[in-house]
Amino acid sequence: MKGKIALVTGAGSGIGRSIAIAFSEHGAYVIVADIAQEGADETVSIIKDRGGRAEFRPCDVSKADDVKTLIDSIVKDHGRLDYACNNAGIHNPCNEFLPDADESIWDSIIAVNLKGVFLCMKYETKVMLERGCGVIVNIASMSGLLGEPGSYAYVASKHGIMGLTKTAAYEFADKGIRINAVCPAAVDTPGMAKAPPEFRKKYTDSNPMKRMARPEEIAGAVMWLCSDIAGFVTGTGLVIDGGVSTI
Ligand SMILES: NC(=O)c1ccc[n+]([C@@H]2O[C@H](COP(=O)([O-])OP(=O)(O)OC[C@H]3O[C@@H](n4cnc5c(N)ncnc54)[C@H](O)[C@@H]3O)[C@@H](O)[C@H]2O)c1
Repeated sequence: MKGKIALVTGAGSGIGRSIAIAFSEHGAYVIVADIAQEGADETVSIIKDRGGRAEFRPCDVSKADDVKTLIDSIVKDHGRLDYACNNAGIHNPCNEFLPDADESIWDSIIAVNLKGVFLCMKYETKVMLERGCGVIVNIASMSGLLGEPGSYAYVASKHGIMGLTKTAAYEFADKGIRINAVCPAAVDTPGMAKAPPEFRKKYTDSNPMKRMARPEEIAGAVMWLCSDIAGFVTGTGLVIDGGVSTI
């Protein structure tokens, strides 16, 4: 990935940070995009301390102007965008019984998780088309493949990401751009740490490996999808679940 430019949204924490570090360890220059500067600065520092190259760019992925400015500025300053990992997302703050569901929770989750990925892909594909190459990986979830009681907005947003991924993958397959998603089960991140303890216990106990995924294990899959050896892989949702979906 030497000489390549990689963008990771939500790279100031958890899975996004691990993906940013992995891109840099493979030689890419990393654009660390996040709504929160503190975590993003920390990611940039970690990368630089390890001898990599990275910079922070602020972006709220739910805002079209922010996303357009982000992509335009990357092209202006670096001349290209080779890899984009659309990772920024927010978790369900609680489980809801549908008749009591809070509309504002629906709106905020759909705005960041689904519209955010739509906006990022819209501007990323435009730039990649100009050079006729690029790879996009969207961070979906097992909630993009299966239902989960009480998690309507999150499940709908992640299923929506799978639809966006498949549709764009088909549309860009003969234009040099591959587009995939990854579908992790529970991952041990700061975002997951905010979940009630009973959730974390449920996710751990119900997994055949009796643990959550580590963020680096998701980053490894993203690196493979971005690499040339995955050159015929597009439109897929790669399951990374410790075997939880085997039964
Ligand atoms: N942790 C899990 O169990 C798990 C499982 C499957 C999928 N995922 C998905 O992985 C992604 C990352 O999750 P995580 O657990 O690392 O979360 P996290 O909360 O640890 O990190 C999320 C990052 O995204 C940033 N962010 C939030 N809203 C944003 C916005 N509007 N614009 C830009 N950045 C924004 C946050 O500031 C934060 O740095 C999410 O899309 C999540 O749905 C997580």
